[in-house]
Amino acid sequence: MSILSGKHIILGICGGIAAYKSVSLLRLFIKAGAEVQVVITPAGKEFITPVTLSALSHKPVVSEFFTANTGEWHSHVDLGLWADCMVIAPATASTIGKMAHGIADNMLVTTYLSAKSPVFVAPAMDLDMMKHPSTQANLELLSSYGNYIIEPETGYLASGLEGKGRMEEPEKIVEYLEAYFSSRCDMEGKKVLITAGPTHEKIDPVRFIGNYSSGKMGYALAEECANRGAEVTLVSGPVNLRAENPAIRTVNVESAREMLSACQEVFPDVDVAVMCAAVADYAPAHPQDHKIKREHQDVPTIELIKNPDIAATLGKEKKQYQILVGFALETDNEFSNATEKLQRKNLDMIVLNSMRDKGAGFGTDTNKVSIFDRSGNRIDFPLKSKKDVATDIVNEIVSRL
Ligand code: PMT
Repeated sequence: MSILSGKHIILGICGGIAAYKSVSLLRLFIKAGAEVQVVITPAGKEFITPVTLSALSHKPVVSEFFTANTGEWHSHVDLGLWADCMVIAPATASTIGKMAHGIADNMLVTTYLSAKSPVFVAPAMDLDMMKHPSTQANLELLSSYGNYIIEPETGYLASGLEGKGRMEEPEKIVEYLEAYFSSRCDMEGKKVLITAGPTHEKIDPVRFIGNYSSGKMGYALAEECANRGAEVTLVSGPVNLRAENPAIRTVNVESAREMLSACQEVFPDVDVAVMCAAVADYAPAHPQDHKIKREHQDVPTIELIKNPDIAATLGKEKKQYQILVGFALETDNEFSNATEKLQRKNLDMIVLNSMRDKGAGFGTDTNKVSIFDRSGNRIDFPLKSKKDVATDIVNEIVSRL
C-alpha cells in the first residue's frame, strides 16, 4: 500500500502545456489511495477541462472564489487546513511569481497562502523563462518559505527548443512525495520530551526574573517530531504560542523547578529529550506574597539562589538507549562552552546558537546552529527558518536512534 493512501492532496494546475501531464498525476494519486482536490487557475482551464479532472478526482474542480449561479463561496482557508500537502504541477513562471510575492488574485494562490501543509512546486516552462533571474529568484524565495521545488527535467520542450524546463514526470513526482512522507514517519512509535520557552522566577506577585525566549525554536521542534510520527510532551514556559499537531501534549509551567518536575515525570518513558528551554539559572531566594512597594523601602536587594540544572539532572538519570539533546546559547567562546556543556551535562548532542550571529537565538523566526556530538562530530548549518533548523536537528537525532 502506498504511503499516500488516505492523504489529502491539493493538486494545483496552472496554464501551461504540461497541464496534460496533470491528468496522469491525478490518476496516480487516486490509484495510490489519496483524496485529491484539484484547484486550477483560469489559464489552466484553457489547457485541460475541469470535466476530465472532476471525473477522475470524484470531486468538483475549484477554480473561482464563488460558484457563479449559486453564490457558493469556496473557502481557500478550509482547503488549506484540509490538505496534508499541496502539489502545484505544472507551476508556471506567472504563478511562481505570484506565490513568491503573495499576489492572491486567484483561487490557487489564495489556497497556497492559506496552506498549512508542505507545498511541492513542479515548474514547467520554456528554458529561457526557467533560466531568467526573475524565475530563479522567485524559486529561491519559495524554497526559503520551506516549499519543495521538484526540479524540471532537461529535454525537448513544447517550443521546439531543448533545455531545462520540462515538468518532472508524474511517476517521479509521486515517488518524490512518497519519499517525503516515508521520511516523515521515521519517529513513529517514539516518545519525545521537549522543553521550550523561558522560565519565570517569581520576585513578587507582579514581577519575575525571565529572559527573551519566545518558544519558537522549541515549538518548531515539537511540531517536527510530531509530524514525523512521534508522541511529544512539550514542557513549555510562558509563551504566546500554541502547539498545532494533536500528537503534542503541552504541559505549561512557569518556573525552573516546575519545569524540572514536569520533565522528571515523563523522562523515564521517553526515547528522546531535547532541552531547548532557556531556563533561568537563578531564582529569588524569598519570593514575596505581596507586591514590593516602591514607597515603603529603599531599593531592595534580591537574594538569589541557584536553580536546578534540568539537562544535567536528566543527564544523570539517562538510560543507555535514551538520547538527550541540549542547546547552548552563547555570546563568546562558543565552541569550548558548548563542548564543555555537552560533557558536563552528559548530553548525546548539543545544538549551539550564538547571539553574535545575526538572525540567530532569541525571538527571531530564523536560527543558525552547529551540532556537536560525543564522538567529536560537528556540523555547521547556515541561517535557516526555525522550522528548517528543527528538521536538521531531528534528522540528526533520527540518524542516532
Ligand atoms: O525560544 P526562542 O526565542 O525561539 O529562542 C530559542 C533559544 C535561543 C532559547 C534556543 O535556541 C536555545 O538556545 N535554548 C537554550 C538556551 C539556554 O538556556 O542555553 P544555556 O547555554 O544557558 O543552557 C544549556 C542547556 O542547559 C540548554 O539545553 C538548557 O535548556 C539547559 N539548562 C540550562 C539551565 C538550567 N538551569 N537548566 C537547564 O536544563
